[in-house]
Amino acid sequence: MKRSIIKSTGRYVPDRHVSNHDLAKLMDTSNEWVVQRTGIEARYWVEEGEDVGTSDLAYRAARQALKRAKWNPGDLDLIVFATMTPDVNVPGSGALLQNLLEAKKVPALDIRQQCTGFLHGLEICDAYIRSEKAEKILLVGAELQSRYLELTTANRDTAVIFADGAGAACIEARETNEEIGIITSILHADGKHSGVLKVGLPAHKSGKPISKAIIENQDHFPYMDGKTVFKLAVTRLPKLTKELLEKANMAIEDIDLFIPHQANLRINEAFRDRMNIPEEKMFNNIQTYGNTTAATLPIALDELIEQNRVKAGDTIMFLGLGAGITWGGVIYKFV
Ligand code: UT7
Repeated sequence: MKRSIIKSTGRYVPDRHVSNHDLAKLMDTSNEWVVQRTGIEARYWVEEGEDVGTSDLAYRAARQALKRAKWNPGDLDLIVFATMTPDVNVPGSGALLQNLLEAKKVPALDIRQQCTGFLHGLEICDAYIRSEKAEKILLVGAELQSRYLELTTANRDTAVIFADGAGAACIEARETNEEIGIITSILHADGKHSGVLKVGLPAHKSGKPISKAIIENQDHFPYMDGKTVFKLAVTRLPKLTKELLEKANMAIEDIDLFIPHQANLRINEAFRDRMNIPEEKMFNNIQTYGNTTAATLPIALDELIEQNRVKAGDTIMFLGLGAGITWGGVIYKFV
C-alpha cells in the first residue's frame, strides 16, 4: 500500500521584522494589547514597494525543501500551492512557482482554503499518492498578507494579526504495510459562516463591474468578526480532535505533539485546556511569526524538525479552523 511521507521541509520569511511597537506608531494599539489578546510579539512583512509576490516567498521555501530532499524540480509529479493571497487573481500562484522553479511541465494546483489550506493540501497529496497518481509532490503554503491589510485603527484587529511567510514540504510515496506517514485526515466546511471572515474583492457577486466607488468602499481589505471566529475555533477543534482520534483508533495520549494553526495563542491555549493536553505537547510559534494563514503549519513543521522536537516513531496532529468556515486535522507518524 502507498503511504505519504514528508521527506523534507523548508521555510522562508521576509527580512523586515515588524514589532508591535512599530504597529503602535501606525494605529491606536499597544504591545501590551497585542501580546495579551493574541500572543503575537512580532511578525515579518515584505518591504513596502518591494517587487515581490507570494510565489517568490514560496520559491525560497520550496528550494530549501527540494534541496533537502535531493529532488530536482523536474522530478515532481505535482505542485500544490495553498494561499489566500495569490500574486495575481488569475492565474494561480502554483503556475508562477512552477515557472520560477523551472519545473518543466509539472502540473500546478492552487487551493484557496485560507487557514486550512495546508491541511487540505496534505489530504490532496495523500489522495494522489494512495491512488498512485503521483510519487513526488511539492506542497507549499505561502502568504503575502501585508499588502492586503489596512494599517489603520479602524482595521487594527486584522492589521496586528496577519503576516507574510512561506513553508514547503516534499511529500513522497512509500510502499509499505506499516502505519506510517499520513495516517488519517478529516476536513469540514460550514458555509453558513462564510461572512465571519472574508475579503470581498476582486469578485463578481455584486453583479457590478469593479469601479472606483467599489474600491473606495474598501472591500478589498479583509473583514473579520474575530469574536465569532474565536468561538467557532474553541468549540469545533476539540470535537474534531475526538473525531480524528476515533477514526485513527487512537487515544489522545498517543499523540506526541499537537501543531495547531497559529491564529491566536489564546485559541490554542483554550483548546489545550479543554483537551487537558500538557504544555510540552503543544507547538506554538505565533509569538515570532504572527498569523501567516496557509503558511503557519508548514512553517511550524519546519521549525520543529529543525529544533529536533520530533523523531522517528512520533505521531503528530495538525489542526486548524478559518474562513469559510473550514476546519480540519491530520494525524501524521514520522519515519
Ligand atoms: O486565522 C484566521 C482565523 N482568525 C482567527 O482565528 C481570529 C480569531 N479572533 C481573534 O483572534 C480575536 O477575536 C482578535 C485578536 C481579532 C480580537 O481580540 P478580542 O479579544 O476578541 O477583542 P475584541 O474584538 O472583543 O475587542 C476588544 C476591544 C475593543 O475595544 P472596546 O470596544 O472594548 O473599547 C476593540 O476595539 O479591543 C479593541 N481592539 C484593539 N485594541 C488595541 C481590537 N483590536 C485592537 C488592537 N489594539 N489591535
